Amino acid sequence: MKQVKLLTVGSANMDMVLRMTRVPMAGETLLDPNGAMVHIAGGKGANCAVAAAKLGADSMLCARLGADANGKSLFDTYTEYKVNTRYVKVDRTTNTGMAAILLEANGANRIVVYPGANRTLSVEDAAEAIASRPDALCLQLETPFEVTLEAAKMAAARGIPVILDAAPADRTISFREFPTLEIFSPNEIETEIYTGIVPTGSESCMRAALALSRMVKAKYYVIKLGARGAFIFDGRLCHMVPSYNVRALDTTAAGDAFTAALAVAYCEGGCSDILTAVRFANAVGALTVTKVGASKSLPTREEVVSFLSEVARP
Ligand code: RIB
Repeated sequence: MKQVKLLTVGSANMDMVLRMTRVPMAGETLLDPNGAMVHIAGGKGANCAVAAAKLGADSMLCARLGADANGKSLFDTYTEYKVNTRYVKVDRTTNTGMAAILLEANGANRIVVYPGANRTLSVEDAAEAIASRPDALCLQLETPFEVTLEAAKMAAARGIPVILDAAPADRTISFREFPTLEIFSPNEIETEIYTGIVPTGSESCMRAALALSRMVKAKYYVIKLGARGAFIFDGRLCHMVPSYNVRALDTTAAGDAFTAALAVAYCEGGCSDILTAVRFANAVGALTVTKVGASKSLPTREEVVSFLSEVARP
């Protein structure tokens, strides 16, 4: 199988993960005896690039870091995971992006992002990386919107499939100016924010997917439904693809990993088999929630293959 060349133009953050029994209420100070704190490489763009690299893709990241210790540590992490860092630049005017992640004992998280150097990512940065002619371009919404939009336009003009993970959700965004995307993929909360419809079952997913299809042009709409799997809509037909039963420890980066896996498997299948790609992405998303931390929890191709052979066993 040909190695897929995947470009991610997106954010890079240092995640400060605070583990706690429960999140405090407004005005409450919580001294948690079971609390813990770790710093882990994160950022929706970088998570996607690291996930793709761990799945065996030639994964390039176009991002901006600050000239600080966090930036250095993130860069070393990308190198360790064999992400192509040719298009990772250092901005000397600001700090590396950071995310504070409040992680509850049940695996649920709340994330606040300080964008820092992600704000300095430019259209020129994206143009330079897209000129390397990747097989597909992955985008999210954590870097300046203008860069995301222009990157999508530049890639589409060159016939490069664009996969947009519509996270984090922003009600004010208008997707109308985007060219036709290959895949548009929000999660359940994002779908609710964009459409006002909570995608609970097949019927509401269908209504939500139809609403999304009126907002943004795409070949496929893939709604990520967490533990329940994913819903595919191609403008005519739909398919609910259930996920795998696992014990969730931390859902951070599961969506990023899902989209990266979707992009890798979709490209490996010659951009023609969305169903197989979503099944593979479900497995990657499921494995990601079984470990704590963004980049650290992303599974390797070997781990996914072994997991799939285990679950397939009668
Ligand atoms: O999707 C998870 C990511 O969101 C975290 O790694 C955090 O950095 C934020 O970007």
